[in-house]
Amino acid sequence: MRLVLLGPPGAGKGTQALLISEKYGIPHISTGDILREAVKQGTSLGQKAQEYMNKGELVPDEIVIGIVVERIQQPDCNNGFMLDGFPRTVVQAEALDEELRKRKQELDAVLSFEVDEDEIVRRISGRRICEKCGAVYNINTEPTTKKEVCDQCGGKLITRPDDEPEAVRRRLQVYKSQTEPLINYYKQKSILKPIKAVGTVEEIFSRIEKALGEGVPS
Ligand code: AP5
Repeated sequence: MRLVLLGPPGAGKGTQALLISEKYGIPHISTGDILREAVKQGTSLGQKAQEYMNKGELVPDEIVIGIVVERIQQPDCNNGFMLDGFPRTVVQAEALDEELRKRKQELDAVLSFEVDEDEIVRRISGRRICEKCGAVYNINTEPTTKKEVCDQCGGKLITRPDDEPEAVRRRLQVYKSQTEPLINYYKQKSILKPIKAVGTVEEIFSRIEKALGEGVPS
């Protein structure tokens, strides 16, 4: 199965991606996670990307397209993959189409997460991530057992630099102007599946299972 998760910042894409990856046995490819790891390692990609990310701007298309094209050529993607946070512009969507065409493959579905802006701001303001392993928590809805300490690895919890209010405002603007047009792009290809992304994590996941149904080919 080849999936794309589309939705505004803080919509819960990463949270649902973990469950989808486990149930359907496909790798979770998050461009945000890949870029954050590069920033952490201080690679030249990370140094280039950090400046854009901290301001809430998109990293240039040619950089992220290169990352994704290389990643989906790995053997673990032979039976499918899930892209989280890519494509984010029409140029990226066209590049993905072109790469899949070369491989004689298609996307099976694009899950479009629908959630209003008040809820997004509430979720992002409560989000904390582990600076060591990247696990995601929320001080309001998914707190750790021990305050500010990761349940999985004992690392310290931090606020993502792009979760500061000014960067969040910019990310929302960028989403509206550059990413939202992809809803129509995929609607026209008849693979868009809108998902109401409010409620508990389990409720949203069961809507996703229903939307994907049983008939999706591998
Ligand atoms: P990226 O990491 O992709 O950020 P994003 O799309 O803005 O998404 P988020 O990670 O903010 O949110 P999410 O939807 O995954 O929500 P989550 O599950 O964490 O990108 C970051 C940056 O990298 C970009 O701004 C850009 O600079 C760059 N970049 C990445 N991809 C790029 C591309 N293709 N092109 C160019 N640049 C790119 O949930 C949010 C919070 O809510 C968590 O605390 C969670 O615990 C909580 N939560 C989740 N579900 C629920 C629920 N049902 N109820 C209550 N709380 C919930």
